[in-house]
Amino acid sequence: MAQLNLKINGKNYKTDIDPETPLLWYLREHADLVGTKYGCGIAQCGACTVHMDGNPIRSCVMPISAIGEAEITTIEGLSTDGSHPVQQAWDELDVPQCGYCQAGQMMTAAAFIRDNKAPSEEEIEDAMNPHICRCGTYHRIRKAVKLAADKAK
Ligand code: FES
Ligand code: FES
Repeated sequence: MAQLNLKINGKNYKTDIDPETPLLWYLREHADLVGTKYGCGIAQCGACTVHMDGNPIRSCVMPISAIGEAEITTIEGLSTDGSHPVQQAWDELDVPQCGYCQAGQMMTAAAFIRDNKAPSEEEIEDAMNPHICRCGTYHRIRKAVKLAADKAK
């Protein structure tokens, strides 16, 4: 089996596992990066969201062979000290309940506020809508995205 090189959170990883292995499995089972969660496995819930070259992707349906030279960022790589505006806003507004969906939500929020520092409520709703939270933290999440965008200005 061919060796694959992956760049994750600024570090290089080598692997010779099946190239069709979804990135989520690689992150959790092989790279010991368990902040990214398995929810549905079919790109529907958003729990597994990470960044690929800065853009949110569903890692449960992304084979590692499709990553190539792209940089992967997981929730562990958002910042090393909790200083990212999204982390600060989530902390300030005490957003998570069980926490299961939150890493994925935060990764989408981080990419969103990078590109939009003054989002409308509708834009926030559209950006975060693809994520499912079984605890119903939607209201706090929307407020936290707004706060994070303000902090990122
Ligand atoms: S686990 Fe990937 S979208 Fe649900
Ligand atoms: S906080 Fe529990 S699933 Fe969202």
